[in-house]
Amino acid sequence: MSIVTGKRIILGITGSIAAYKIVELARNLTLDGAIVDVIMTISAQRFVGAATFQALTGRPVLDDMWALPEDGVVGHVSLGQHADAVIIAPATANTIARLAAGICDDLLTTTVLASNAPLLIAPAMNPLMYAHPATQANIALLRQRGATVLEPAYGRMAEPVVGRGRLPDVPVIEGELRALLGRTSGPLRGRRVVVTAGGTHEPLDPVRFIGNRASGRMGYALAAAARDRGASVVLISGPATVDPPAAVTLVRVETAREMQQAVLRAIDGADLLIMNAAVADFRPATTAEKKIKKGDDEELTIHLVRNPDILGGLAQRRDLVKVGFAAETHDLLAYARSKLERKGLDMIVANEAVASIGADDIQMTLLDAQGGVRLPLQPKTTAAEMVLDAILERFAARLCPPEQVDPTGSAGADEPVP
Ligand code: C5P
Repeated sequence: MSIVTGKRIILGITGSIAAYKIVELARNLTLDGAIVDVIMTISAQRFVGAATFQALTGRPVLDDMWALPEDGVVGHVSLGQHADAVIIAPATANTIARLAAGICDDLLTTTVLASNAPLLIAPAMNPLMYAHPATQANIALLRQRGATVLEPAYGRMAEPVVGRGRLPDVPVIEGELRALLGRTSGPLRGRRVVVTAGGTHEPLDPVRFIGNRASGRMGYALAAAARDRGASVVLISGPATVDPPAAVTLVRVETAREMQQAVLRAIDGADLLIMNAAVADFRPATTAEKKIKKGDDEELTIHLVRNPDILGGLAQRRDLVKVGFAAETHDLLAYARSKLERKGLDMIVANEAVASIGADDIQMTLLDAQGGVRLPLQPKTTAAEMVLDAILERFAARLCPPEQVDPTGSAGADEPVP
């Protein structure tokens, strides 16, 4: 189950060529179990047909202020009152101006005005229209009133113009929506979570390094899962091969020592640290200033020195919930248990290194002082949800506001580990 499952989302679409991209958003949210009510302005329907959204959401597309819904309550009042979130994407300069002025002359603007639901606006327009002081003032006003207004992306517009005005990519809008829902009702709202991800590169010379096969997938999924539960997330990423999630603070690093500095800065005031990064245990003792040449040598010896143990060095931070990862090729559970104790962790996620590093799927065993739980092989996205749920179940008293703690501790465990 994800943060959008069962949520009532109003998806407002206004008259921009970027409206076609939102087809994918409507589909993703619906597949994830959200109840998506699409409201289109008349101009939006010049760009994309209502039938497309109707087919994908399985619900009638709304555009008429005067159409009475089945419950007989006037549509614009009932819709917004039951919504968990309202997104307007793409939002034109005109719609933004009408929202800022409180004008409600169509179903979308009326619904927004008659709703307390959190509002997410993804503008898309000509760069000059976006930069215009009128639009900027309207956006500032909407932000001041609590709306989340995304910055458009920079790039080529539909017309041959380059500038800032493109609709943010669908994964960005979706990530921002999930973050918004999490901040509104998630169990980690108000909490600060630090996640490390990817591998590290330890340079040998300006062009070569010692690295590993980590892709960033697991750590990025963990950061997204924490974000979806309402946390403000700092994601410290070493080199990775996948795109980072939206709506987290991304800090890019390359070496273990850079990662340590970033972690030490980020954990100040944090509640939870998930150290997923595959950190190099050793680094070359020196980095050559110029490219190392082979010359006539048949052999090259590289002298390695120990890197700092980032997690192991945080024993004094007892207030911080610390979760580590153990990826091993053999004696997995024995090594994982010894790391749990040696590094003073609250929980460790054990996984088989060759099968999981760089892969899409992972089979994990969660170990803590109480014992262990073996989880099935699954995609890293759902695995990350399970890790976050397990953390919340085990450490609720340290992580959740008191009114949210479930005294029955109901989060599910799979197969117990002997
Ligand atoms: O001891 P090992 O490196 O296998 O431990 C793995 C755990 O410790 C992971 O959570 C990893 O992110 C973390 N680690 C660290 N600093 C290192 C090496 C690993 O924090 N230098």
